[in-house]
Amino acid sequence: MRVGVLTGGGDCPGLNAVIRAVVRKGETQYGWRFVGFRDGWRGVVENETMALNVEACRGILPRGGTILGTSRTNPYSRDGGATTVPATLQAQSIDALVAIGGEDTLGVASRLSNEGVKIVGVPKTIDNDLGATEVTFGFHTAVQIATDAIDRLHTTAESHDRVMVVEVMGRHAGWIATYAGIAGGAAEILVPEEEFDIAAVSERLRRRHERGRFASIVVVAEGARPADGSMAVASEEVDQFGHIRLGGIGNLVAGEIEKRTGFETRVTILGHVQRGGTPTAYDRVLATRFGIAAIEAVRDGAFGQMVALSAGSIVRVPLADAVRAPKTVDPGLYNDVAATFFG
Ligand code: F6P
Repeated sequence: MRVGVLTGGGDCPGLNAVIRAVVRKGETQYGWRFVGFRDGWRGVVENETMALNVEACRGILPRGGTILGTSRTNPYSRDGGATTVPATLQAQSIDALVAIGGEDTLGVASRLSNEGVKIVGVPKTIDNDLGATEVTFGFHTAVQIATDAIDRLHTTAESHDRVMVVEVMGRHAGWIATYAGIAGGAAEILVPEEEFDIAAVSERLRRRHERGRFASIVVVAEGARPADGSMAVASEEVDQFGHIRLGGIGNLVAGEIEKRTGFETRVTILGHVQRGGTPTAYDRVLATRFGIAAIEAVRDGAFGQMVALSAGSIVRVPLADAVRAPKTVDPGLYNDVAATFFG
């Protein structure tokens, strides 16, 4: 058996842990051979591979990023791109493909699977917005990085009696914002799921500061939207999946808060710091479990499936279920838990 492996979309701490587990289990237990495709679907479309074996995976468990490289290439948005996929798989004598990615990469995997390509999916995204799995690896690491940043911002905010706006990632869902906001004691958390009223946010902050010297942390997910509709974007550039590059809502919110309250306000945009570096122990274990389960799915011929976490156990779900709709923040967590500490 020859198995191809690719990592697509934004990188994510834990990708290397999945690759290592896939290769170790397949090579040592079943005697399979592996082929690494470079930069996600680009490597498949352009037939660019790299050697992948147990030796190549030594030392990668705690390393962030992906040894295979990644990109946001969409074979279906390239002329004839999708037809090159089966051609490359045939040329490389690939019997099965393990695709590690988020909604875009696995969306492509789901379409290709319907066209007969033998694929097993592994869910990844720091945003934690992929359906059909309780959690994706990378999320826990991103939340820890954001929480550490908030802890540091607290002390400088207190010293200056300032409002600190922290912009975190989260295009469609505010999981990182909600978790890091709860863990970091945020005074406000703005998420894509709930349009925010900047007047109400500013008024709560004004009243909070009236009660004394209170440093306030406002966590904003990059996809958060003001109630009047328009969303701030850094540029109109879109990727091959049609996503606008976000970033900038934190500055907009900070400007409004300062104008409306008169409090000195500063902004920190955490950006790609949240995606870099070493995965937490939790993410390493989850990624390893997913990798082992993916190889078991290949062994069982469970193609068109994605491995997922459900009630603490690893299960298989149809790829189509995973990419149907983004998994958004539980309203109970946001309204009953996080919002208790607003203002
Ligand atoms: O992978 C998801 C994500 O981290 C989003 O939260 C963010 O909007 C996007 O990727 C950023 O993408 P890029 O790395 O292409 O700037």
